[in-house]
Amino acid sequence: MTPNPFNLQNKTVVVTGGGSGIGAAIVELFAAVGATVHVGDIDLEGARNTHANSAFWQSIVLHHCDIADRSSVDAMVATVEAQAHIDILVNNAGVGKVGTINETTPQDFDRLYQTNVKGTYNMSSAVMPHFMLRKAGVIVNMASICGLIGVPDRFAYCMTKFAIVGMTKAMAMDHAKHNIRVNCICPGRITTKFMMDRINEYPDPEAIRAAMDASQPMGRMGTPEEVATVALYLASDAARFVTGACESVDGGWYAG
Ligand SMILES: NC(=O)c1ccc[n+]([C@@H]2O[C@H](COP(=O)([O-])OP(=O)(O)OC[C@H]3O[C@@H](n4cnc5c(N)ncnc54)[C@H](O)[C@@H]3O)[C@@H](O)[C@H]2O)c1
Repeated sequence: MTPNPFNLQNKTVVVTGGGSGIGAAIVELFAAVGATVHVGDIDLEGARNTHANSAFWQSIVLHHCDIADRSSVDAMVATVEAQAHIDILVNNAGVGKVGTINETTPQDFDRLYQTNVKGTYNMSSAVMPHFMLRKAGVIVNMASICGLIGVPDRFAYCMTKFAIVGMTKAMAMDHAKHNIRVNCICPGRITTKFMMDRINEYPDPEAIRAAMDASQPMGRMGTPEEVATVALYLASDAARFVTGACESVDGGWYAG
């Protein structure tokens, strides 16, 4: 029988921001295909509620972790590595902000930079020495359509997501020789709390929601599960010759 390349049996995975939305869907799918999944989330209570009724709760371990805080990241990585070798890191946690440059305060800029850019750096540089020692490892970064094109009203967010695409490609080049693959996903608009919070920042959320559905050629927003399946592909052996890639999951937006 052909082995299933999407199987994550005996794999140890860390998913940041796994307590909500896309990250939560990734946690559930990866646990369903056999992985032990460690969730690092700043909102531990929220993560607990999200996964409380999971059919795979025995394979899900929750940690409080603020990816913007290096000591918090180092503590979680040390805790997980003391139990098992990390095979796969999914840098999913991220925050957003609607606004042009003049609607972005220095505090907004720093908040997005610290979480999205520095957080991805913190997590990746914490696991990289372990991956290099073992000559094995996979990183999946959560970028965005906003990391591929300029999107109106997303000044700071685009800045951080372009940085994640850049870090992905640079790490892929540096570490291919160590058998470490690094790829990113560029979702379009996905129906999560994150997206609903952005929509509610506008004066007329209903009109914005309709415009956002229409902005994607498939005429709707995606679901967290539709991103999770692509994360599984990139994390698994099915993508063993894929590194430095940006996989769009956007209903065709980037093609136009
Ligand atoms: N929803 C979309 O339309 C969309 C589109 C493109 C990209 N993305 C990206 O996908 C990722 C997940 O987004 P989502 O829509 O699922 O968001 P979400 O708000 O539903 O979930 C984000 C999770 O990250 C956690 N988090 C936030 N800051 C953190 C920190 N400093 N340390 C640890 N955890 C932290 C939150 O507590 C939450 O559980 C983000 O990187 C986002 O930029 C989302």
